[in-house]
Amino acid sequence: MTRVLSCIQPTGEVHLGNYLGALRNWVSGQHENDAFHGIVDLHALTITEGPDTLGTATMELAAMLFAVGLDPDVATVFVQSHVTEHSQLAWMMECTVSFGELSRMTQFKDKSAKREAEFISAGLFTYPALQAADILLYDTDEVPVGEDQRQHIEITRDIAIRFNHRFGDTFVLPKAVTPKTGARVMDLQDPTSKMSKSSESGAGLVNMLDDPAGIARKFKRAVTDSDSEVRFDRETKPGVSNLLEILAACTGDTPEALASRYTQYGPLKRDTGEAVVELLAPIQARYHELIADRGELQALLRTGAGKARRRRCHPRQSPGRRRHAARLTARSPGQMSSACRSAAAAGPAPCTSSSVAAADPAARSISAPNRS
Ligand code: TRP
Repeated sequence: MTRVLSCIQPTGEVHLGNYLGALRNWVSGQHENDAFHGIVDLHALTITEGPDTLGTATMELAAMLFAVGLDPDVATVFVQSHVTEHSQLAWMMECTVSFGELSRMTQFKDKSAKREAEFISAGLFTYPALQAADILLYDTDEVPVGEDQRQHIEITRDIAIRFNHRFGDTFVLPKAVTPKTGARVMDLQDPTSKMSKSSESGAGLVNMLDDPAGIARKFKRAVTDSDSEVRFDRETKPGVSNLLEILAACTGDTPEALASRYTQYGPLKRDTGEAVVELLAPIQARYHELIADRGELQALLRTGAGKARRRRCHPRQSPGRRRHAARLTARSPGQMSSACRSAAAAGPAPCTSSSVAAADPAARSISAPNRS
């Protein structure tokens, strides 16, 4: 089975565009692939926030991922900081990537330019090394990413190749793949721009936790156009087409078929709003249940972290890698994970699977504020 890793930063609320465009495919994809889903809280530390902001956002995102249907028994859903090997391997990665390579990362150049007058952390600069650790730690085959992340997958491959060359065949080379996309949901007030959490007006953005009346209102006020024909045409009728696409994503019909059933904008807006309310109702109910039951949520995440660790500890091995592991194991007893083998290969004392299993994810986490 192909091992696929997707990661998401706990920054800001999840909105309808995230759900219909991506998260829904994560849910169906968990049955097709060996799916790993990481909430990358350490990456979010590159933006400084007040105390507990990140911890709360991490728990909220976790609750949302389970609420939309990621099944902890099927997929591996974990918080990055709960699996401490991410940071350990990140250091190895930092020592395997050059200053020059990191300096050429477009995302770093853009973000640091934008924050010119602010604090630019070294973490923002070494961010791709941590991302490489996320990916290589699990022998990931495929990483579904948008265009903006392709360069980070390329540098991950470069790091893996260099590491394998220096220390022996250790890491699987991951491939960037284009994520299966669901609906393209645009801003309700500016239907030529994608719905985004940084949207200017809250009115164009439907959050997953918006109440039914609020959702209905946002759809009622959605921007359409001055003629009154209901037709699916993104170029000339972006607002109407956006409503049709959202309604189609909720009902399973095609936008074209739906267009033929409407002659006026009013009923289309009303029905789309209602369909979204109906789609979100069970997700919201499950979310509220989980967020009110910290113990349960933490237990699910502990399961995820444990699974992530175990999956990492039993890598699929090519003959070359087996030989390599055997050499390292001969040097240092104890069953070693790929990350541990890497650590051993690079020099420092290795860790064993028992020391790893003894670590309690919640106790060590920066983002699980209360243990129940
Ligand atoms: N950098 C990614 C983003 O901003 C998030 C991320 C962190 C990631 N680690 C990853 C994505 C590993 C894919 C694989 O979207």
